[in-house]
Amino acid sequence: MSNPFINLNGGDPDVEAPKCVKDALMKAFKEGGVWTHYGGRDIPQEFREAVVDYYKTIGPEYKPENVIPTAGSSAALYVALATILEKGDEILLWEPSYSGHYSLLDNMGVKMSVAPLKEETGWHPDMDTLQEYVSPKTKGVLICNPNNPTGTVFTKDELKGICDIAVDNDMAVFSDEIYLHFVYGDSKFYSTASLGYEDRTLNIMSFSKTFSMTGYRLGYAIVPDRYLEKATMVQGMAAARPATFVYAGGTAALRSDLKYVEERRKIYKGRVDYICNALNGIDGISCIPSQGAFYAWFNIKDLGIGSQEFCDRLQKEGVGMRPGKVFGVNTDGYVRAALVRPIDDLKKVVAKVENVVNSL
Ligand SMILES: Cc1ncc(COP(=O)(O)O)c(C=O)c1O
Repeated sequence: MSNPFINLNGGDPDVEAPKCVKDALMKAFKEGGVWTHYGGRDIPQEFREAVVDYYKTIGPEYKPENVIPTAGSSAALYVALATILEKGDEILLWEPSYSGHYSLLDNMGVKMSVAPLKEETGWHPDMDTLQEYVSPKTKGVLICNPNNPTGTVFTKDELKGICDIAVDNDMAVFSDEIYLHFVYGDSKFYSTASLGYEDRTLNIMSFSKTFSMTGYRLGYAIVPDRYLEKATMVQGMAAARPATFVYAGGTAALRSDLKYVEERRKIYKGRVDYICNALNGIDGISCIPSQGAFYAWFNIKDLGIGSQEFCDRLQKEGVGMRPGKVFGVNTDGYVRAALVRPIDDLKKVVAKVENVVNSL
C-alpha cells in the first residue's frame, strides 16, 4: 500500500478554479487573435471594469485607471512597495506574517520595523505601543489582513488606529487583502480603503486563493490617484503583466455570483475547526483557531524542539509543514500547516503529529 506524502507546506488550494473561469479562458485562447497578442487597451480595460464592480462591494468605487493588473499579487506587492519605498526607507509591519513580504522588502533594502502580533490576545497587535515602531524614516505600513500565517482578522478599531498613525506620519498603507473572503465566526473583514483612508491605501489583491488560481498568475494592485503615475511606471518597467487570455478568466471570476468562493470558505472553516481541535488534544501543542485565511498556526514550545526539527521529523512521517522561523524573528516555537487537503487527510496528519510528539 503506498503512503503518499501529505503536503501542507504551501498555500496552494487542492481544487481547480471555478468552471466559469476555465470556460472563459479556453474560449479566449481558442479564439486567438487579440487574446493571444499583447492585448492592447480593451482587454485590460474590461478586466479593470470588472475589478471596479467587484471591489465596490468591499470598499470604495475606484476608477478603472486605478487598477493595475499583474501576474499574481507577488508582482502587485512589488508595484505597490516600489512605488513608495526606496532603499534606506522604513516600513512598519508585524510578525508573524507572510515570509514573502520580508524577503521582498529585504531585497529592496527597506528597513523593517516589526511589531509583534501577540498570542495572548489571539494574535492581535498591541495598539498602545505601535507608535514606538514608527520613525521619521517610516514611509509606509504593510497590513496583511487576514494575516498569513496567524489568520488574524484586524478589527475596525485596529485598522483605524493603524491608519491614523499613517495619516499623522504621512505614510502609505499597503493592504494585502488576498484572503479577504476567508473569514470565520464573528470576525468581519474591513478594507482600510473603506474606512476613510482610500487616498493613501494601496490594495494588493489576488485570484490565487479566492478562486484557486495559483498557477494562472493573476492579481492586481489598486492604487489611489496620488501614487498612480509612479505605480504605472513601475509596472511598465519591472512587474510582469498577466498573459492576455488569462484576463478572460479573471473577468469571468469577478463577474460570477461568488458561490464558489463561499463554498470554499465553508470548507476551509471546517478544516480550521477540525485541526485546531485535534491539535489542542495533543500534549505540548496548542493552537488558536484562525479567524481568517486557511492556515493553522500552532505553538510547539513545550515540546522542547525547534520548528525546523519538528518539520524535519514530520517530513520523515510523510507530512510537509512550514517551520515558524520563516514567518518572523521570534517565531521559532511555532509551525504552520496550510489547510489545503481534505479532512480525511488532516486526520492522518494529526496521527503523524502524534507520532512525532510520542517519539520525543
Ligand atoms: C499574504 C500573501 N500575499 C501574497 C501572496 C502571493 O500570492 P500570489 O502571488 O500567488 O498572488 C501570498 C501567497 O501565499 C500570501 O500568502
